Amino acid sequence: MDQMSELPELPDFKVVEATEGPEAALAAVQEGGAVLRAGGLVAFPTETVYGLGADATNAQAVATIFQIKGRPTFNPLIVHVKDEIQAAELAEFNDMAQKLAHIFWPGALTLVLKRKTDGPLALTATAGLDTVAVRVPAHPIAQALLHEAGVPIAAPSANKSGYVSPTQAIHILMQFKDREGLNLIIDGGPCPIGVESTILDLTGDAPVLLRSGGIAVEDIEAVVGPVKVDDGAHTGEGVKAPGQLKSHYAPSIPLRINIDPKDRLKGESLITFGPDMPRRAAVNLSKSGDLKEAAANLFTMLRALDMPGIRGIAVVPIPNVGLGRAINDRLERAAAPKEGEKPGGPPKAHDPIGNIQI
Ligand code: TXA
Ligand code: MG
Repeated sequence: MDQMSELPELPDFKVVEATEGPEAALAAVQEGGAVLRAGGLVAFPTETVYGLGADATNAQAVATIFQIKGRPTFNPLIVHVKDEIQAAELAEFNDMAQKLAHIFWPGALTLVLKRKTDGPLALTATAGLDTVAVRVPAHPIAQALLHEAGVPIAAPSANKSGYVSPTQAIHILMQFKDREGLNLIIDGGPCPIGVESTILDLTGDAPVLLRSGGIAVEDIEAVVGPVKVDDGAHTGEGVKAPGQLKSHYAPSIPLRINIDPKDRLKGESLITFGPDMPRRAAVNLSKSGDLKEAAANLFTMLRALDMPGIRGIAVVPIPNVGLGRAINDRLERAAAPKEGEKPGGPPKAHDPIGNIQI
C-alpha cells in the first residue's frame, strides 16, 4: 500500500486508552504509529516514565518536542529503538554495549554511543553531537508503538523542561494545558518503575554513569566492573552531556532533603520512608521500606504535595543503595535552588552525579 495514503490528518489533541484490553491497546498503538509517521507528537508510557515522542528521523517533528517542552536545543534527546538491530543502525555498537544490551535490554538502561554519521537520525535529536543516547524500552505499549511506527522514536520525558517527569497520563494533561503541538496521549496506566532510565556513557575507555536511574548501578557493575561517576565538571574537552549544565527539575514549592521528621517546619508536608513514621501531613514512599516501591511512588507523591496551601516538602533520609540512588539524585536536584533563586548551589550530593537535566 502507498504509505502516504495511510497518513491521517494529525489530530489537534486526543487521549486514547490502552488499558481497557488488548483491542483498545492495539487501536491506540496503531493510531500512535500513524501520528508519528505523519510527523506528529505522541506521549506514550514506558516502564520508567512517559515519553514525549516524535519520529527521530524527522527534524521538524523533533523541533516541535523542544518547542513545546521549552527545552534548550543543546540538550539532546534519548532515541528509543525496538531492538539492538535498530540501535546498531544508528550507533556504533562496541563490545561493552553489546554485552550490556544483551543483559539489560529491553529495559531502563540508556547507552550513550558514537552516532553513525551516515545514519538516518535528525541532527536536532542529538543536538548536533557525534554521540547518541539509545534505549530499548520494555513497556509493551512502547514496544508495540516502535514496531507500528517503523521509525526510531526520539522521546524525552513528557514534562515541561525542569519539572517532575510524568508517571501517569493525567500528569501530562496537567502540564500541557494548551495542548499545542501534542497530538496524542496514549494512556497506558501508571509507569511501573517510576524514575527515568540509568544513562551510561560508553564512548570513552571506561563506562561512565551520567544519570542513576531504573537499573541499579550495582547491577551494571556486576557485569562490567567499576563504573566511573560523572560529576558534571567538564573542562578542557568540552561538555559531554549538555543536560548536565543545569540543575533543576522540581516541584514549584521548596523541598528539603534528609530531614528528621521532628524538624518539619510549619506548613511543610513530609515524605517518609519505611515503618514507624509519622502519619500526620505525611505520605510514605514505602511503608515496608522497599526502594522499588518508593521509586514508583516518588513522582506521583511529589506532584500530589505540590499544591496551594502546602508551603514546602520535607523528605526523610532515603538509603543510598540500589534504586535509592536514583531517588536521592532526583530529590537533590529538586531541592537545588532554581534559576533566579538565591545562589549557593545544590546541596552536596550523596553520589556526585550532579546536574543532568531531566
Ligand atoms: O527513562 C527515560 O530515560 C525517559 C523515557 C521517556 O525513556 N526519558 C528521559 O529523557 O528521561 P530526558 O530527555 O528527560 O533525559 C535524557 C537525558 C538528558 O539529560 C540528556 O542530556 C541526556 O539524556 N542525553 C541525551 N543524549 C545524550 C548524549 N548524546 N550524551 C550525553 N547525554 C545525553
Ligand atoms: Mg526529562
